[in-house]
Amino acid sequence: MKIAFFDTHSFDRKPFNDANERFGHTIHFIESRLTEQTAPLAQGFPCICAFANDRLCRETLKILKEGGTRLIALRSAGFNHVDLMAADELGLTVVRVPEYSPYAVAEHAVTLLLALDRKIHRASARVRELNFALDGLVGFDLHGKTVGIVGTGRIGFVMAKIMGGFGCRVLLYDLKPQTAAASALGAEYVTLKTLYRECDVISLHLPLTPETHYLIDDKALSAMKPGVTLINTGRGALVDTRALIKHLKTGQVGGAGLDVYEEEESIFFQNLSDRGLKDDVLARLLTFPNVLITAHQAFLTREALTNIADTTLENITEFEAGRPLKNRVGAEKFRPH
Ligand code: NAI
Repeated sequence: MKIAFFDTHSFDRKPFNDANERFGHTIHFIESRLTEQTAPLAQGFPCICAFANDRLCRETLKILKEGGTRLIALRSAGFNHVDLMAADELGLTVVRVPEYSPYAVAEHAVTLLLALDRKIHRASARVRELNFALDGLVGFDLHGKTVGIVGTGRIGFVMAKIMGGFGCRVLLYDLKPQTAAASALGAEYVTLKTLYRECDVISLHLPLTPETHYLIDDKALSAMKPGVTLINTGRGALVDTRALIKHLKTGQVGGAGLDVYEEEESIFFQNLSDRGLKDDVLARLLTFPNVLITAHQAFLTREALTNIADTTLENITEFEAGRPLKNRVGAEKFRPH
């Protein structure tokens, strides 16, 4: 199948080209993000492949449909950036990669936590300046701390297991608790209120939905244990960033490790070092020594990239062959293809 592959980066090409030797699709790599403006580039392509910061709004989808596109193959797990209602109305099929490596994301969440706690970003910068002083670098033992995991799906459970390995007490929150699996880990489900009150560290592993949008707002942050460390590798808009800044200023939040940001769409995945930052909220966040930000890279391991390429190309092959689509978005709502 002919695929217009948007928002291509150097790290995408090799795993997709390697995997495609087995699938035989024709991949046309396009560097631009998919937006209303760039959608006409997909004219004549029955399939487009999109990533987390492409904008698949109604207008974009209409242009794709008019250009002959039938399949939207997301190479991400999240699908909050797609207007699914519009896709359904336009008769566009959407598939995704529901699981590629929960370890990649959970391990990155732990990396953010450890680096933040032990101030590795500051220590490393100091040592490069030949400043070997230790003042200001005091961290805390993770052993014995209480860690809250909000969202205990594939990634949240791996995170819970890792934190258990550090000797932490692990508290969980999810709409659909998996109680037996939790007790096998020695973890327990609690209410959000209890989790906020008791946890020294809180890590977010929820999808972004209308219900989870700004789940972590001013009220939630006020209800947390003073000095809490917040880790977000889920989606940026799970957190009200302005409220987070307010609580970082007072010390109510003791540290924030963020791989996602609510306005990341037009910022992340690009080199803006010669242009500067127009986003004042992100600029303010970057001034805190106890904030560590990575640009949506939790998924970025060799294993995850290989699995993403395999599943995406397999999804496309299944669509082309008219077989049932196990990774169709909203599969529970739609009849099999
Ligand atoms: P999953 O679908 O396995 O788990 C999500 C969990 O959240 C489920 O257990 C579900 O019951 C729960 N949940 C959903 N809505 C809820 C609500 N309103 N209240 C409480 N619990 C709720 O998803 P997975 O694979 O663990 O991924 C989680 C999220 O991580 C993804 O949706 C995506 O946004 C993000 N992600 C980030 C990546 C990165 O590179 N930073 C890479 C991959 C995923």
